[in-house]
Amino acid sequence: MTRLVPGFLWGAATAPHQIEGNNVNSDWWLREELMPGMERSGDAIDSYHRYAEDMRLLAEAGLNSYRFGIEWARVEPSPGHFSRAELAHYRRMIDTALDLGLKPVVTLHHFTHPRWFSEGDGWMAADGIERFEKYVRRVTEILEGVEWVCTVNEPNMLALMVGMTRMAKAAMATGEDVKKWMSPTVEGAARPVLPDPDPEIGRRLAEAHHAAREILRKRTDAKIGWTVAAQALVARPGCEERLREVQDVRENLYLEAARGDDFIGVQSYSSQDVDENGIVPHPQTPDTTLTGNAYRPDAIGIAVRHAWKVTDGVPILVTENGIATADDTRRIAYTSEALGHLFAAVEEGVDVRGYLHWSALDNFEWGHWEPTFGLIAVDRETFERHPKPSLAWLGDVARRGHL
Ligand code: BGC
Repeated sequence: MTRLVPGFLWGAATAPHQIEGNNVNSDWWLREELMPGMERSGDAIDSYHRYAEDMRLLAEAGLNSYRFGIEWARVEPSPGHFSRAELAHYRRMIDTALDLGLKPVVTLHHFTHPRWFSEGDGWMAADGIERFEKYVRRVTEILEGVEWVCTVNEPNMLALMVGMTRMAKAAMATGEDVKKWMSPTVEGAARPVLPDPDPEIGRRLAEAHHAAREILRKRTDAKIGWTVAAQALVARPGCEERLREVQDVRENLYLEAARGDDFIGVQSYSSQDVDENGIVPHPQTPDTTLTGNAYRPDAIGIAVRHAWKVTDGVPILVTENGIATADDTRRIAYTSEALGHLFAAVEEGVDVRGYLHWSALDNFEWGHWEPTFGLIAVDRETFERHPKPSLAWLGDVARRGHL
């Protein structure tokens, strides 16, 4: 039986835009309005109002942690104008989690920006970082009792998304099909391989993360980190050099920026090979998940070992891992195998502090509703919650602390 650290976090994760609903002041809302063929978040699953019920279901199942986010677009609707009511809303969420015995893991930025931020040059604007710092400073006012804070979710995906937005705009201007630039997380025939993240934006995000870390360290007692999308890349024979190049642009820049952090969030879903041409597209098999990824529960083991090596031993929190499937028995099989791979890494000496499953609930998958990752299903007409067997299963693993 693998020995886990005392207080190991067993939980599930969400992000504001994907679950809250009516995030109308965010750039993603605008994107959904403008992009032909894109599904809308709309009311999402109304977790803005139903968060207490969501958290209660997780706690009752046996989990001890919940990762959720604070939405910048709500907290700062116009530059420099902060909403006390929204800050109070997120404080109520933190209190609800604590009252239920769920350790909150709070994300300050998860893919979305206030519209006013993106209308200009966003992160690349001269005052881009300063604007983020102002937001972070305000948020520290409500973070008492929070032990884990993620500054930016998947900065490598975020840097890639900025490039995709550029390409989508160009495609729209010429009347081209924009499908392949629609969603950052759903693979498909239209776009078999994700483009590279823009390293200039990546470096800027690293600066923003370091600035936020400084503020958070001064003003809170929380452990600070950011969360990196890990593609669990593996070299085909003879392609080790190529692998290194691809990893440098896609992941290592972001992992290296985490040296000196209190933890690194590792988020992994699938694994891909690298050959002399770069990343090999996911093979399409009957196992392929609803986001077009190969079924690879071993990915998390590859991902945490890589993060451990590149960060020079920063403690790891698995902040996302899961599978888009309509078949909950596949979710249980995937997660059970994934935990086996994670525990194997722990036994080798990788310091893993928790496992947060993506996702607590079926939610808005960035332009698509079909890929369902949740431990809890939601009726999108009535917003009724229906826990799936996988929730009880994971809760049971959490209570026992082993598979
Ligand atoms: C993101 C989530 C997303 C998940 C599944 C990650 O890239 O942080 O927002 O829903 O993967 O695709």
